[in-house]
Amino acid sequence: MLPCQRDLFDIPRDICFLNAASWSPLPLAVQEAGRAAVARKGQPWKLPPDFQSQQYERARRAAASLIGADPVDVALIPSVGYGVSTAGKVLAVPAGNRVLVLQDDHSSPVLEWVSRARDGAFSVETVHQPQDGDWTSAVLAAIDRPNTSALALVSISSVHWSDGGALDMPRIAAAAKRQGAALLVDATHDAGVRRIDVKTLDPDFLIFPTYKWVLGPYGRAFMYVAKRHQDGVPLEQSAPARKSVSAEDTVYFRNLEYQDGARRYDMGERDHFISMEMAAIGMEMMAGWGNEPIVARLAMLTDRLTEELANTGVQVLDKKVRAPHVLSLAFPKGMPTDLPKKLAAENVYAAPRLGRLRISPHVYNDEADVDRFVEVFKRVAL
Ligand SMILES: Cc1ncc(COP(=O)(O)O)c(C=O)c1O
Repeated sequence: MLPCQRDLFDIPRDICFLNAASWSPLPLAVQEAGRAAVARKGQPWKLPPDFQSQQYERARRAAASLIGADPVDVALIPSVGYGVSTAGKVLAVPAGNRVLVLQDDHSSPVLEWVSRARDGAFSVETVHQPQDGDWTSAVLAAIDRPNTSALALVSISSVHWSDGGALDMPRIAAAAKRQGAALLVDATHDAGVRRIDVKTLDPDFLIFPTYKWVLGPYGRAFMYVAKRHQDGVPLEQSAPARKSVSAEDTVYFRNLEYQDGARRYDMGERDHFISMEMAAIGMEMMAGWGNEPIVARLAMLTDRLTEELANTGVQVLDKKVRAPHVLSLAFPKGMPTDLPKKLAAENVYAAPRLGRLRISPHVYNDEADVDRFVEVFKRVAL
């Protein structure tokens, strides 16, 4: 199990921050890199000509290593929604087909398809939140449902952001493939924590941002694109996406062919070296710790929470179907509306999400945080 990494962060002992699923604190090393990079932008004439490309290729490699991808199959993008919109442009959903999404999944893997459904004459089918919390069985049943229209795409999160349900993606990927459907994975609450290997999972697209679990800044996200989709038209048209459109050449539009690999889908202004370096360092830290040690630590914390909250009347998903790092408390009589505020007044931070209280520890949390949460929760919530 990974030991507590609190010393690498700027988190005072009296702060009980259990809200990484909303946004994680930046490690000190990431903050320092950000400050140094701002100073570099203050004196840009000192930067070597290949400085930006070194930074973004480092970030691409770091992102690829978290999901078992080759860097050439990873695009640099600014948000999950940007990646899904790219997929929306690249993937043609045939008329009359269906696209599967999860009930109350985050807007990013859902709304692109909702907004295209009418003009595209396809349907968006919602997999309802299962009573027993078993999203995997619910999705598998929807994929294999007989006597219905053909399935074109499964566009889902691999960990549900609000109830913390963890989906068994290898089983879902295999079922989608059997039906000839494409798979888009929003791995926002997964990449860096649970092990992902795109080479065996073989999704069509897999996307994650850096500002939550991989300890990076806003505005940086990464998209794995299967080779079979590396011939599409990118969301935006930029010079770096083309083989040769160079201001330094004597001919500007020399070669308009798109770059090979997923690079053609890179966002504009990927030269943003300040956030690229910050993103790379956070992801490298996560890779350095490794999935199993991280999962062991976070499962230890959420298991301890579950035990200590037993008999308080709150409900949590069964261990078999919940993520190791996201514990969402359901309140059969409704969550007291002022609960998050009352917790925050005691320096205890968790997030209200669709009627639940979502607790999301990370590597900087320890048993003392859990015990403190439980003590304050019992005092202000019950
Ligand atoms: C499941 C999930 N996907 C995506 C995002 C972020 O999406 P975007 O990067 O498009 O803002 C979040 C943020 O809460 C999320 O929970």
